[in-house]
Amino acid sequence: MNKKTIFITGTSSGLGKLTAIHFAKLGWNVAATMRTPEKETELTAYDNIKIFKLDVTNVDQVNSAVNDAIATFGKIDVVVNNAGMGSYGALELAEESTIDWQFAVNVRGPINVIRKFLPHFREVGGGMFINISSFMGVTTAVPLGSLYNMSKFALEGLTEGLYYELKQLNIELRLIEQGGSKGNNFVHSVIWNKNENIKAYNDLENKVGHMMASTPEDQLDDPQTIVDAIAAQATGESNQFRTLVGEAGKGLMALRSSVPIEQYLETIASNYK
Ligand SMILES: NC(=O)c1ccc[n+]([C@@H]2O[C@H](COP(=O)([O-])OP(=O)(O)OC[C@H]3O[C@@H](n4cnc5c(N)ncnc54)[C@H](OP(=O)(O)O)[C@@H]3O)[C@@H](O)[C@H]2O)c1
Repeated sequence: MNKKTIFITGTSSGLGKLTAIHFAKLGWNVAATMRTPEKETELTAYDNIKIFKLDVTNVDQVNSAVNDAIATFGKIDVVVNNAGMGSYGALELAEESTIDWQFAVNVRGPINVIRKFLPHFREVGGGMFINISSFMGVTTAVPLGSLYNMSKFALEGLTEGLYYELKQLNIELRLIEQGGSKGNNFVHSVIWNKNENIKAYNDLENKVGHMMASTPEDQLDDPQTIVDAIAAQATGESNQFRTLVGEAGKGLMALRSSVPIEQYLETIASNYK
């Protein structure tokens, strides 16, 4: 049987790196992409991982990375749109450039990658896109996250909408919706929107900051459960369109589906009174 190949964005850290290593250990070829390959020291140890430079917001780099990965491996079977960043803080305080960057990385990035892979997937008769969303893509969970929510809700809409045009081409779509996980460093990819001259949001900022800093590690999920959810889709063990991973997201979705939206919003808001 031919070796399968997975192409992953944002493999310099966190979930992307763990996913690259997991698939390398499963015996897949891995096209691991990142903005700064020159800094990478861990993934270089695996013979079946090849690293390609890729900032998902840069269409020229998307073209080069995808062309080079296809030239290296011949065929790509699964693409994981994992690269992401989070902009938190009140919308009023956000820089114009931060608002654009949130959309550019989390929404335009996957669009760039998907559009570049479609001719290849049509040529080889199919493929799979696994888009890394969040439970923040299906519900709101915390104040001051509107821009991040916007980006992941958009990724969810994009993925669901694409289903109808890609089904006939044997191109599959999946969404993974997780929350924070143990030892994850997404906080390094977060921009906080602040403005010292506007105090109206200070109280909420303090409460949200306290909640984020004080979440005990044992209440966070094992990141391997997220990697396993990705692997279950890529290997065909599961064919679930949406996989919600982790207790926090499941609890929020159970609440959201059991009460009117007004009650849901007030319940979340009441945690920050
Ligand atoms: N951790 C959480 O709490 C959480 C919860 C739900 C969903 N998620 C989602 O899970 C995914 C992975 O995040 P993570 O938890 O593993 O956090 P992470 O360790 O911060 O990983 C984010 C990755 O995205 C990369 N990235 C950022 N901007 C990029 C760009 N323009 N082009 C290419 N790569 C870029 C980062 O690379 P650099 O090193 O170059 O910055 C890094 O490799 C993201 O889509 C995130 O939204 C995370």
